[in-house]
Amino acid sequence: MAFRVLIILLLTYSFSFANDNKCISCHENVCSDKPYTCTTCHRGESTTMRKDIAHYKLISGKYASFTDKSSPKTQKGIELIKDAACTRCHNIGTSGATLASDLNSAVKRLTTDELIKAIKEPVINMPNFQFSNQDIENLITGLYYYTIPQNSKSITQVVHFQGDTGGNDIFQKKCGTCHKALTSAGALGNSDDAPNLSNLTNSYPDYLNGSSWNKDLLNKWLTNPRNLKKYAVMPIIELTDEEKSAIINLLIK
Ligand code: HEC
Ligand code: HEC
Ligand code: HEC
Ligand code: HEC
Repeated sequence: MAFRVLIILLLTYSFSFANDNKCISCHENVCSDKPYTCTTCHRGESTTMRKDIAHYKLISGKYASFTDKSSPKTQKGIELIKDAACTRCHNIGTSGATLASDLNSAVKRLTTDELIKAIKEPVINMPNFQFSNQDIENLITGLYYYTIPQNSKSITQVVHFQGDTGGNDIFQKKCGTCHKALTSAGALGNSDDAPNLSNLTNSYPDYLNGSSWNKDLLNKWLTNPRNLKKYAVMPIIELTDEEKSAIINLLIK
């Protein structure tokens, strides 16, 4: 009887040993006080002793506080994502536009370095936000926060813009020398001199007193920007009625 118990104990022991978390073979007593398993916060692969594989897409300690919503880094990251209005083009968490890729899945697909590079050296149709290194640290932590399943909703539509696709001629000619916009007609415009006009209905400039852009307000703006903003820099642009309504329909669905 005692012999049988010993066998069972031995079997149980070797079974649990086979499934053991190999991270702690190299990192004994590191983060042992933390909730969750190592890979919940750091990603990686816990079944191997080969360091390069174990560290695959590793999230280093710097960004690993994302599972704690109340940590200052996570809080600041969530705020930055809101302030920079990344969701005007990307889906992040449970909301956002489908003009550029779904960041919930992009963040899972990319390594931390690739993610930082995509933000610091943006492609032609993404603004360069000129974030400080501290901002980047918070922002990345915030982006990881939104990859937690209960905080995110992935969308299937992924649009990739290689560069300027030509697109709508009127916008190109009349607005594109000052503005850019990512629209359902493609990536339009050539200049970052004036605000990016992607997903305007998600933008609430101070001078609209709390409301967002709609067709009526855009019509007033295009008739004369100073109808809405006393010292607007944008000149009155010569447009026929047809051109004006085509642009309004392009920018606001
Ligand atoms: C074979 C040993 C080994 C295994 C297995 C291993 N690591 Fe490491 N880890 C290291 C060493 C050595 C370092 C020091 C930096 C380096 O050499 O990459 C390190 C560094 C780290 C760091 C700090 C990186 C930073 O820049 O902040 C984290 C986090 C980490 N490991 C997590 C893990 C996790 C999670 C696992 C399991 C999925 C794991 N490690 C598995 C050896 C290992
Ligand atoms: C709840 C999230 C969480 C879990 C789970 C977790 N860590 Fe960490 N880890 C962090 C954070 C945050 C840091 C940054 C330093 C700190 O706050 O402790 C960190 C730092 C580290 C570091 C770098 C330490 C250094 O040299 O600065 C290593 C290595 C590491 N963790 C390994 C592990 C291993 C191995 C496990 C599993 C036993 C694990 N972590 C579990 C969040 C976590
Ligand atoms: C004006 C639209 C726009 C805004 C605003 C914007 N992006 Fe982008 N972003 C793009 C485009 C276009 C791409 C490249 C095509 C793609 O990945 O869909 C891109 C690509 C990325 C990628 C690489 C995605 C991948 O699949 O490789 C990351 C990461 C990213 N953006 C993060 C951000 C973050 C973080 C913010 C807010 C701070 C932000 N973006 C704001 C348009 C935008
Ligand atoms: C000569 C440059 C120039 C041209 C051309 C131009 N804009 Fe502008 N636009 C600006 C500037 C500068 C601003 C910043 C606000 C201001 O004028 O103070 C602006 C602001 C805007 C805004 C408000 C954005 C916001 O949220 O604050 C909209 C909407 C807009 N432009 C639409 C258009 C459209 C549509 C066209 C083409 C018919 C166009 N613009 C052509 C320079 C230009």
